[in-house]
Amino acid sequence: MRGAGPSKRAARDAPIGKSCHKAGPLYSASTSRIHELSAEERAVYATLKTDCLPEHVAIIMDGNGRWAGSRSLKRFLGHQQGAKSVQLVTETASRIGLPWLTLYAFSLENNLRRPRAEVNFLMRLLKIYLENNVQRMMDNNVRIRYIGRTHELPREVQDKMAWAAETTERNTGTTLTLALNYGGRSEIVDAFRSLAAELARKHIPPERITEADINRHLYTAHMPDPDLLIRTSGEMRVSNYLLWQIAYAEIYVTDRLWPDFRGIHLLEAVADFQRRERRFGGLSDSVGITDEEAEHVNIAAS
Ligand code: FPP
Repeated sequence: MRGAGPSKRAARDAPIGKSCHKAGPLYSASTSRIHELSAEERAVYATLKTDCLPEHVAIIMDGNGRWAGSRSLKRFLGHQQGAKSVQLVTETASRIGLPWLTLYAFSLENNLRRPRAEVNFLMRLLKIYLENNVQRMMDNNVRIRYIGRTHELPREVQDKMAWAAETTERNTGTTLTLALNYGGRSEIVDAFRSLAAELARKHIPPERITEADINRHLYTAHMPDPDLLIRTSGEMRVSNYLLWQIAYAEIYVTDRLWPDFRGIHLLEAVADFQRRERRFGGLSDSVGITDEEAEHVNIAAS
């Protein structure tokens, strides 16, 4: 599938047990649009190791309601301001050449548990956002896609989404994926249903199921897993977001509310990511022991 080849390889081949700066390229940025960053963004970008940028950043955009509440505004104005952050952060991502940016825009739980008036407003906002920003996506070479049970969204919203995806389909820069009517558990249910159907069709016994098979049936089959998961507004939760895919993601939580989040804050999160040591269940270089040492350790009876 388009985009799967080199990016999946880069993410999977990062050596285990090495810190980011020693790991070799996770993904190397194209520097061609760095001059379009603001002076403040360029100053942060200058501190980054450009051969070790995350390939896929996923964001839980939280805090729209609190942003509005703290200004004695109605909640919907927080969402409206949040939509501006979506565009600005996407443009910074595209300027640094980030291949994959995936934003949690509307969860299944939001759809079921928020007042109808708020859900209807979010749907209208999404439509208007797409109408108003597709040209900017074209100018920034951004491709728009979606994950989630999008077939359950109102027809006119689905039509607008399809239009935006088709219009931007041939862009080759950042892929902006909006998670809409999305839930991590329901994604896994959908993947199991489609995998079970495939197994039955091909008469394959369940013992032969591998992780790669499950991955192939997720909404995100064509993407590498996120390297970095950002959550705004200080909550320490993953909220049913990309549950399978974030197994080894670095998590960065900021107190900043989503409507105040800008490209510079994305770059700060990337700087923090680059200070982490990613071990993928392995060990860092300095703490390994030899076979001989392991053999001579006395294990006390417990
Ligand atoms: C959380 O804020 C955010 C959402 C429910 C959805 C995110 C929506 C946007 C950023 C705006 C629309 C997006 C697009 C793509 C047009 P919250 O209401 O849960 O905030 P709170 O926890 O402070 O109440």
